Amino acid sequence: MEIQPVAGALGAEISGVDLQQEYSNSVAAEIHAAFLKHHVLFFRDQHLSPQQELRFTRIFGEPDLYPFLQGLPEAPEVIEILKTETDTKNFGGSWHSDTTYMEKPALGSVLSAVEVPEFGGDTLFANTALAYNALSDGMKAMLAGLVAVNSSDGPYRGGRKAAMATLAGMKDAYAVEAAVYESEHPVVRTHPETGRKAIYVNSSHTKRFRNMTEEESRPLIDFLCRHVIRPEFTCRFRWTPGALAVWDNRCTQHHALNDYAGKRRRMHRVTIKGDRPV
Ligand code: SIN
Repeated sequence: MEIQPVAGALGAEISGVDLQQEYSNSVAAEIHAAFLKHHVLFFRDQHLSPQQELRFTRIFGEPDLYPFLQGLPEAPEVIEILKTETDTKNFGGSWHSDTTYMEKPALGSVLSAVEVPEFGGDTLFANTALAYNALSDGMKAMLAGLVAVNSSDGPYRGGRKAAMATLAGMKDAYAVEAAVYESEHPVVRTHPETGRKAIYVNSSHTKRFRNMTEEESRPLIDFLCRHVIRPEFTCRFRWTPGALAVWDNRCTQHHALNDYAGKRRRMHRVTIKGDRPV
């Protein structure tokens, strides 16, 4: 197995392992260690079935149900992310960490490419621990103890259901009528496995700080969101059919680029159960 970093900030591509086959505990442990070190891992030409993707997910934690979409009939924890030739919007097309509006947000996510456009549709990732380290001591002191309110309605003013209805490929999978989830989490969270601190505010879901209005909170939230995605904190993955990625939501954000109008892109995603951020 070879582990090749893809950028200075985060991300590594792993080759020399066939995830369709049985793999030993030591291979799984090596992949898990690489995940903690590089925060997002990429594999090529894996073409995993939903069951194989679930088995791979268990290297990192337990597969979870995604709160807004029905999964595949044979594997409810696997959701299909589909943008058709006629869709203009895409799913995940703004910077975020997954499900930060839940009390126990996703530890990470696994994404498997089923159909990809011949160009476009890359995913961007940012290292939020590196972004935290780059802050001044004064800013770090100000953020310590600050708590943010995260809402599932953030990027979907007018409701998620209306937004999902604009995605021809996904609207029928929408699972709930009008649920809005809201949770409070520290603005700086400590990674439970590495002990590293990371900024835990994102432009899709973070609405305001606790005990502050949205208007009062906005300038600092905007600064943090711009800071996290500075180019030197990011990497970019070009998808190919059968490629697989797994990212750590506790210290990264991601953004699915919507630059492939008229083309089709179909992915299978599994959400990994997380714990309460501290
Ligand atoms: C997401 O999980 O936010 C979507 C990522 C992608 O489709 O690249």
